[in-house]
Amino acid sequence: MEERNIPKHIGIIMDGNGRWAEMRGLPRSEGHKRGVERVHEIVEAAREVQVEVLSIYAFSIENWMRPEQEVAVIMTLLESTLQKEFENFMREGIRFRIVGNREKLPENIRTVIEFAENETRHNSNLILQCALSYGGRDEIIRALKKAIAMGAGPDDITENYIAGLLDTAGIPDPDLIIRTSGEMRLSNFLLWQSAYAEFYFTNTLWPDFTREELLDAIHEYRTRSRRFGKVEKAPDKWGV
Ligand code: IPE
Ligand code: IPE
Ligand code: MG
Repeated sequence: MEERNIPKHIGIIMDGNGRWAEMRGLPRSEGHKRGVERVHEIVEAAREVQVEVLSIYAFSIENWMRPEQEVAVIMTLLESTLQKEFENFMREGIRFRIVGNREKLPENIRTVIEFAENETRHNSNLILQCALSYGGRDEIIRALKKAIAMGAGPDDITENYIAGLLDTAGIPDPDLIIRTSGEMRLSNFLLWQSAYAEFYFTNTLWPDFTREELLDAIHEYRTRSRRFGKVEKAPDKWGV
């Protein structure tokens, strides 16, 4: 793919695992299993086209309200997938990090995550940012609490200051956000950071999402006109 105008940061809301399974008369856990298996190919594709950051929404803070058994299945899958993919991160130069409320995560998951984050921190081909136990509002509230704890006054509160206290500090804002499964909402994903993101919605359920569809989304992104509130070209007659 031509390098021009490739999104630097892509976010994916990986939705539709449950419906994928239910349509086949399978337990929802099968959908989650197939869902995590899809991640490898998509990460590879993102790296190939030289995306700098890929953010994947794996588990929202609201997802803690799902039945205990489903949560347990997802956590076990996340742990085993992370262990399995670790060698690949090292081989492919992928830096792994998470965003989200770590305090709510079980100790064993936190240990695996911290190990992967630490060991991969110097990798520079792609940042794989996993939103786990993540909620955009929760992230903003935690940032504000940090600001207060540091004694910030009204004059300190700027966009840059707040951005620097979010879990995504130092990571560019997403250029393109993809959501699978036909739902057209953010569900609390990267609220602050997506202010000027482009959106791509597809009916494809996450376990069916392929490398080709990722490339389609990138192609579509490249046709969009991003204005950031400005005008593309100042009309002559208004020239001052
Ligand atoms: C997305 O699939 C994965 C998570 C939210 C953990 P869902 O589990 O939400 O699947 P649907 O939306 O019920 O089909
Ligand atoms: C959003 O999907 C969270 C993830 C994909 C991890 P949900 O399935 O939880 O979102 P809602 O409930 O349909 O908004
Ligand atoms: Mg869903």
